[in-house]
Amino acid sequence: MTKIRIAVQKSGRLNEDSLAILKDCGISIDNGKDQLKATSRNFPLEVFYLRNGDIPQYLRDGVVDIAIIGENVLIEKGKDISIAERLNFSKCRVSLAVPKNETYNSIKDFEGKKIATSYPNTVKEYLASKGVTADLHIINGSVEIAPNIGLAYGICDIVSSGSTLFKNNLKEVEVMLKSEAVLAVSPTISEERKELLKKIQFRIKSVLQARQ
Ligand code: PRP
Ligand code: MG
Repeated sequence: MTKIRIAVQKSGRLNEDSLAILKDCGISIDNGKDQLKATSRNFPLEVFYLRNGDIPQYLRDGVVDIAIIGENVLIEKGKDISIAERLNFSKCRVSLAVPKNETYNSIKDFEGKKIATSYPNTVKEYLASKGVTADLHIINGSVEIAPNIGLAYGICDIVSSGSTLFKNNLKEVEVMLKSEAVLAVSPTISEERKELLKKIQFRIKSVLQARQ
C-alpha cells in the first residue's frame, strides 16, 4: 500500500507539537526514540525525523511528500515550496537584536556592521528592502552569544518567549517577520499521495477547530 511520507523535526521545539498534532489527528506512531524513521499503525504514513534546515531540500527532491516545519525555514530556503495548512503553534518572530546598552535609533544603525545569524537570506532581503548593507556572519546555533564575545554588533534569530535575548543582555529592535508551524507540500507529490494528504488536511482542520 502507498504511504505518505512526512518530515518532522528530529529534535527541538517543533518536534513535540508536531507529533502531538498527528496524534490528535488519530495517527499513532510507534516511536523508537533513536529511530530516524517510523511508521503509523493506523494510517498509511511514514515519519522521517530530520533536521529543520534540511527539510526544504527533501521536499524539493520528493524524498518526503509533506512536512511540518516552521514557516521561517521556508522563507529562508524554501520559497518555492507551498503551504497546505497553517498549524497555529510554534509561533515566533524572526528579529534583529542588539546589546541592551546600545543606543538604537533605526535600521540604518546596522549599516556596515557585523550581524550574526542562521538566516542569511532573510536578513539580506530585509536589509536590502531598507537600503542597508551589513556584513553577515553565518552561524548555526547559539547565535545570541555573538555580540557578547565581540563577534558581531547585532544578531538576527528566532524570538519566541524572549528569554534567550534577555539572558544574553540583548534587546529586540526590529521584527522582520512572524512565523508559525505549517504543513508544507513537496512540488512532486503523486496524485495517489495527494489523496492521503487530503485526508490528513481534513483531520487537521477539525483538530485546529476543536483547539480554538
Ligand atoms: C532558538 C532560537 C533562539 C531561541 C528563541 O534556539 O535560535 O535562540 O530558541 O526562544 P526564546 O525567545 O523562547 O528564548 P534553540 O534553543 O532552539 O537552540 P539553537 O539556537 O542552538 O538551535
Ligand atoms: Mg538559539
